[in-house]
Amino acid sequence: NLYSLIMAGGSGTRFWPRSKTAKPKQYLNIFGDQSLLQDTIKRFASFTEEENIYIVSSATQAKVLEEQTPMLPKENLIYEPIGRNTLPCIGLAAMFAEKENPDGIMVVSPSDHLIENNELFKDTILAAAKIADEKDGIVTIGITPSYPATGYGYVQTDENITGNEKIKQFKVERFVEKPDEATATGYLKQGGFYWNSGLFVFKVSVFLKAVEEFAPELYADLRKIQADFGKPTYDQTLDTIYRAVESISVDYGIMEHAKNIYLVEGNFDWNDLGSWESVYLADKEKDENGNSGSGERILLDTKNSYVYAEDENLIAVVGMDDVIVVQDGNTTLVCKRENAEDIKKIVEQLKAEN
Ligand code: GDD
Ligand code: MG
Repeated sequence: NLYSLIMAGGSGTRFWPRSKTAKPKQYLNIFGDQSLLQDTIKRFASFTEEENIYIVSSATQAKVLEEQTPMLPKENLIYEPIGRNTLPCIGLAAMFAEKENPDGIMVVSPSDHLIENNELFKDTILAAAKIADEKDGIVTIGITPSYPATGYGYVQTDENITGNEKIKQFKVERFVEKPDEATATGYLKQGGFYWNSGLFVFKVSVFLKAVEEFAPELYADLRKIQADFGKPTYDQTLDTIYRAVESISVDYGIMEHAKNIYLVEGNFDWNDLGSWESVYLADKEKDENGNSGSGERILLDTKNSYVYAEDENLIAVVGMDDVIVVQDGNTTLVCKRENAEDIKKIVEQLKAEN
């Protein structure tokens, strides 16, 4: 039995002004008319039953989440009273899954990545599910790193465990979450390292065992919450306990410590879409002047720019290259492409002022 768990509770800020608190990146349609979350659901629905696709999100995102997921049973939407990062999120979902089938295989996925080649994605996940089942391991999907990024986890591989030519599979030596740039540069030089894609595959019981070993307080709290599943006291119990758990990611909390980790190489197109700049770069259908974006636009003597106008609005740009212009409601951003990372400073400043 394959269960998919899509984590959709993050609150990204780098897509300001389109990503406001009520609508983070995963709910935005960056390319085409489906949101990144809807694309993710569709990717899994091609090989998992819809009734086996679960989403964990924060209660504050309930409205937009329900609007965007008419294809899923309502009871598959699991709400956290407040975001506590990915370890409690996966732990809570695993407690639900355990009730159904402790030997079930769970595929954990972020909701905000751009992934292409769905066939290869499926084959990769199925290869990982096989290892998770046979080896009782936690399997991560690894991406070949292209630069010393500091926003990713790095996975050092050990021996190759199969003769599968198409999809390489390894035992993992160690997992390092978000190293600094010098360390990451060293890893690339040394070789044998992958980026952690944020996709994990494991048997529910195997994951819960790791939580018990490496995060025993969280484990005890999750068991208390599980004891109230289906009872009238559930909401209150969840609220009280969950607010008090430590906020920690699965990468720091489990992956850096567990010994039974495996890696399956992900060769599908993978893009984390970390900023408007990465959206610009990921667009394969730029116009003849290298411009990207959508909506009604007039671009005169303008090259290599990303311009996004909301429905009913018009943006005109004259004589500018390498800019990002994004309009959302009554807010407009104008930014040089090279400064795209600084957009989070605007969000910080706005937060400080409010
Ligand atoms: N439900 C819920 N609750 N979801 C959450 C929460 C939470 O509290 N926090 C984050 N998420 C969701 C996000 O929406 C996203 O889809 C996913 O979990 C991963 O969280 P990020 O906050 O985006 O993590 P990251 O990008 O910093 O790092 C992770 O992903 C990298 C690859 O993109 C790590 O796993 C890294 O090791 C990895 O390289
Ligand atoms: Mg992320």
